[in-house]
Amino acid sequence: MADLEGNAAAKKFHSETPAVRFSQNIRGAANLDWGMQNRLSRILDPDTGRTVVLAFDHGYFQGPTSGLERIDLNIAPLAEYADAVMCTRGALRTSVPPATRAGLVLRASGGPSILKDLSDEYTAMAMADAVRINADAVAVQVFVGGEHESRSIRNLTTLVDEGYAAGIPVLGVTAVGKELVRDSRYLGLATRIIAELGAQLVKTYYCDEGFEDVVAGCPVPVIMAGGKKLPELEALTMASNAVRAGAAGVDMGRNIFQSADPAAMMRAVRAVVHDDAAPADAYELFREATETRVLA
Ligand code: 5RP
Repeated sequence: MADLEGNAAAKKFHSETPAVRFSQNIRGAANLDWGMQNRLSRILDPDTGRTVVLAFDHGYFQGPTSGLERIDLNIAPLAEYADAVMCTRGALRTSVPPATRAGLVLRASGGPSILKDLSDEYTAMAMADAVRINADAVAVQVFVGGEHESRSIRNLTTLVDEGYAAGIPVLGVTAVGKELVRDSRYLGLATRIIAELGAQLVKTYYCDEGFEDVVAGCPVPVIMAGGKKLPELEALTMASNAVRAGAAGVDMGRNIFQSADPAAMMRAVRAVVHDDAAPADAYELFREATETRVLA
């Protein structure tokens, strides 16, 4: 009984102090369940709402793209510089160490290869497997205006429903067909449709004019897609412009792994996204790191 009395005396309710309010800067996430918010916080920094995602899911339609021939050797070590990685379950299980600390966005749609109509996709993974793998989000292409638009919307909404059941967010990717123009009108339409249909994250391309309107009109975080390889300073400038226009960060593949120095490029992109570094300063970081590596 003596123990119980001691415990009672030690109680500290701090009744004069209001309950701690959680700070959360992930757009649109405040009303999501705890598990979803927790998973989103593993992809985006919950204090800033920003992220650098390393994408290497290209093999699901392109095969061994240049730079992705050996994911185990050339890509997996880059995960330490990423807030999250985006890949297929096949690449993950075979080539990425399970001890990886980065958040995980799993590609969950698939269909034809580059030899056919890319928009002809279906969901390509059960949510139960995303749970088993411990994914923080699943990703699906949405072809607004494309031939198989309705099916891709169905793919998205099916994953959103299953994602709610499992507590796993969905990243909708605006897949822009060759016949469509990547301007703010199109991207604003596509990103908004994806968010309205329930995706908790949207990935889209950058456009020079009106990207801030694209971001403002989308009620969930907009993450900029990288696209084809650009000279490093140009890629850093595009990332900087996107973040300054309100993007939640970047999800880049070829501009990282096809760079002359992928690790240095990851660091430079992080400086732009997380430290608001000017593109020229971030490029200097890239150059210095590359030179040091060459001299070492
Ligand atoms: C496909 C994707 C890929 O993740 C995307 O292609 C990322 O890679 P990159 O920056 O090389 O375009 O979402 O639509």
